Amino acid sequence: MMDLDLISKTDHIPVLIEPIIKNISPVRGVWIDATFGAGGYSRALLDAGADFVFAIDRDPNVFSLAEKWLNKYSGRIELINDVFSNLEKHADDVNGVVFDLGVSSMQLDQAARGFSFLKEGPLDMRMSQTGPTAADLVNSVSEKILGNILYFFGEERASRRIAKAIISRREKELFETTTDLARVIEKVLPRSKPGQSHPATRSFQALRIAVNKEYEELFDGLFSAEKALSVDGYLVVVTFHSIEDRIVKRFIKARTGNLHSTSRYLPDADVLPAQFTQITRKAVKPTANETSINSRARSAKLRIAKRTNCKPGKNLTLAELSVPTVGDY
Ligand SMILES: C[S@@+](CC[C@H](N)C(=O)[O-])C[C@H]1O[C@@H](n2cnc3c(N)ncnc32)[C@H](O)[C@@H]1O
Repeated sequence: MMDLDLISKTDHIPVLIEPIIKNISPVRGVWIDATFGAGGYSRALLDAGADFVFAIDRDPNVFSLAEKWLNKYSGRIELINDVFSNLEKHADDVNGVVFDLGVSSMQLDQAARGFSFLKEGPLDMRMSQTGPTAADLVNSVSEKILGNILYFFGEERASRRIAKAIISRREKELFETTTDLARVIEKVLPRSKPGQSHPATRSFQALRIAVNKEYEELFDGLFSAEKALSVDGYLVVVTFHSIEDRIVKRFIKARTGNLHSTSRYLPDADVLPAQFTQITRKAVKPTANETSINSRARSAKLRIAKRTNCKPGKNLTLAELSVPTVGDY
């Protein structure tokens, strides 16, 4: 087991790995690590007894970082550059699928990737390094859709005011850099007090989610995992903010036969028979020790469910899993 106290402050520290391993022990068989990153989960699974890991990441840059330790697991790991919504195409009948959502500290720390409002860099934010960048988005999208993105993806209460300021600035000069955008947001919002997050935190999160279509990926990824899992296989998901966690929570509720429509105008979701049983009744949060060592763990929540022998159900709708939608962009 990894000793959290011995990990250097500069390493990417795998979040909630101890409760994950504890809940899925004894670890065995074939796993999919849907969000390989620095490989922390893949290594922990292999060290704990998994026979083989299919390690997926949409970011082509992450795999070279693994070269220094891959030899140790030769023949037991396959690296796959793809989005996790495709995971069932790469492996099936697996004993577990783990998701550790969002960006990694390496992605955030590299100014050139454009994820951080604290580091001057191109306004990019693309994990896969293909498709439209965050700059393309803020320089072209309508004010209404931009406001929706900031509000529904970032829970930014000043979304409309920020969207207006962005549009008015881009009419004079298009956005190119992260700090350029952060400065416009800072002008709209009062400076944060000590202990509060930076004014651009929620807007940057919202744009990152939009650029990478993160909620669509999560929605499709959960149903893909359901198809790839064998009987008694584990679904393990670590989320980092409330919207993500709600989607996972509703998916598990629906597939354990516990989701009932909140609206009397909507029919109850198609809940039975159940494809999963719950392993974690409530979301597991990091201990004070873990958050003191790894600030990224602060908002993390872990949910685990176990596959039954019931065949995969039909996909639910975005609304049934409370996935926010913002209109086409
Ligand atoms: C939080 S990091 C994972 C860290 C990893 N568990 C570790 O311990 O090193 C998330 C990783 O998932 C990748 N990722 C995010 N969304 C993805 C998706 N839809 N498909 C595939 N990879 C994705 C990101 O590129 C990033 O490298």
